[in-house]
Amino acid sequence: IMCGIIGIASNKPVSINIINSLKKLEYRGYDSAGLATLNNNFIDEKKCSGRVVELEKILFKSPSNGNIGIGHVRWATHGVPNIINAHPHSSEEVSVVHNGIIENSDELKKDLEGQGFKFKSQTDTEVITVLVTKLLQNSKPLESVFKTLKKLKGSFALGIIFRNYSDIIIGARRGSPLAVGYSNEENYLGSDSYALKSMTNKISYLDDGELCVLTKNNVEFYDVNKKKINKKIYTVSDDENISDKGDYKNFMSKEIFEQSETIKKCLSEYTDSLKKDINIYNFPIEPKKINKIILIGCGTAYHSCLVAKYWLEELTTIDAEIDIASEFRYRNLKFNSNNLYIFVSQSGETADTAAALDICKKNNVKTCSIVNVVESTIARNSDWVLPIHAGPEIGVASTKAFLGQLIVLYILALKLSTIRGDTDKKIYSINLNNLKKLPEAIKNTFKLESEIQLIAKEFLDAKGSMFLGRGNSFPIALEGALKLKELSYLHAEGYPAGEMKHGPLALIEEGLPVIVIAPKDKYYEKTLSNTQEVIARGGKIFFITDNNKRLLSTNIRFRLKVPHVDNLLSPLLLTIPLQLLAYHVALLKNCDIDKPRNLAKSVTVE
Ligand code: AGP
Repeated sequence: IMCGIIGIASNKPVSINIINSLKKLEYRGYDSAGLATLNNNFIDEKKCSGRVVELEKILFKSPSNGNIGIGHVRWATHGVPNIINAHPHSSEEVSVVHNGIIENSDELKKDLEGQGFKFKSQTDTEVITVLVTKLLQNSKPLESVFKTLKKLKGSFALGIIFRNYSDIIIGARRGSPLAVGYSNEENYLGSDSYALKSMTNKISYLDDGELCVLTKNNVEFYDVNKKKINKKIYTVSDDENISDKGDYKNFMSKEIFEQSETIKKCLSEYTDSLKKDINIYNFPIEPKKINKIILIGCGTAYHSCLVAKYWLEELTTIDAEIDIASEFRYRNLKFNSNNLYIFVSQSGETADTAAALDICKKNNVKTCSIVNVVESTIARNSDWVLPIHAGPEIGVASTKAFLGQLIVLYILALKLSTIRGDTDKKIYSINLNNLKKLPEAIKNTFKLESEIQLIAKEFLDAKGSMFLGRGNSFPIALEGALKLKELSYLHAEGYPAGEMKHGPLALIEEGLPVIVIAPKDKYYEKTLSNTQEVIARGGKIFFITDNNKRLLSTNIRFRLKVPHVDNLLSPLLLTIPLQLLAYHVALLKNCDIDKPRNLAKSVTVE
């Protein structure tokens, strides 16, 4: 199960705070929700399918009064999203919330059913409930949890409460993130610090194999060998632009229009305008010794890796490779100590990306992570962290984080180009200077929104759409198509413009919307001729460029002009109209902007 977990041990009733935390966790998964509290030695469980607000209504009708409890929002992996499969999963004795996948749940379930145990749900999680219940018959809570974990294969973050031990919550982590929060007369368990931020900024993070026993005024940690350990307590920075949407109607629009600010902030973090230099130092490998960079990510983060490959090729003599994390982790890889492995991840918790990072660590190669959440698992496990400083991104469709990833990757490539002497000082300072124009150029790009609202209408009853680009516009075509898919549920395909004649041109028919991304760069003329090929088959062209020259052909349905910036930086601007297009098509279709169906913000399962 991929979801959000909360646990609270307090000196006062916890259900309201559990509900409020679950609302903050809803971006992680939101097809069902539930909580369980302990009320004079009785497990009071309440669950619902759908959103947390449904659970809140149930609590209004029949309040829960316990001072200790656990809560959960679910993104279904095993079992349909209904009330039976919602968490917590409780027996008479224990109640369990779980994030992750138990890979051997079927065999464990069969074994337990053979011993006469009954199951109510189709979930893998319930196996944990029944196992702990069984072992509790002749072991203390901590011992019964340890023994249970030894039987489990797969990943989990767990919160467990016990009917007969009404002052403790036990948490455990293997592969899925779990944090502990501290307050006075109250302690917390949570999937991430964001869920706990409204109650505390004192946070510890469990690492794989670790457990914690949490009461209202004490937390103990144990390692995989049941040895007591101490955990560092971080004071997590409270981002000013946190939680509320302000006067935006949803997080995604806030995050799109924040991009001018977030890019400006990121630039101020990495560039020193006095010294006219980039302040990136402490490379894990002597920069001149790096002979290859491998960039790894998923989804939108993977698209930023694709753009970075073009930059590294353009600016440095370093060989650049890219890979999708879920592919990388199963390859027969040849590791080299002069390779730098870069992991791009907004959440820093994506299971595929984290697993790919683990393989690199086991092979003793140097790793760098480019993340938005600096206290995340991927960041904590990397040799070197380059934050993107975009502030919490709540909308499931990644927007400001993508631009943040791009700008950090560009700055890194630029720094490498100069520190290695791959480009001369003059070009370096020109490239560095070009960065200053970005925040203003981004702001001017927002002015296209009203034209984009018109374009959006043309996608509503389209059978599908194509997004085409060459060079570093090709990854932007992929990103634009992904945005449209995940927000409006319409078929959309990003494709290299030069590849259309090798098959996909057969898809083009009268009126099919085709977005062509064509900045005035060295590919421009080639992309124009690909555009003609599409027009000749009746495709309806939406042409996005930064070129002032009007186009020859009349068959261009719409022409959007973004401000001109150096060709190396145009991917950042060309992305914005595509974010706005997907946003407006989704609005017209009444799709849920911040929480598209079937998705979750941070995919912490394989
Ligand atoms: C982005 O719009 C998508 N929702 C998704 O592809 C996301 O980029 C991907 O899951 C990677 O997430 P991460 O950046 O948190 O690792």
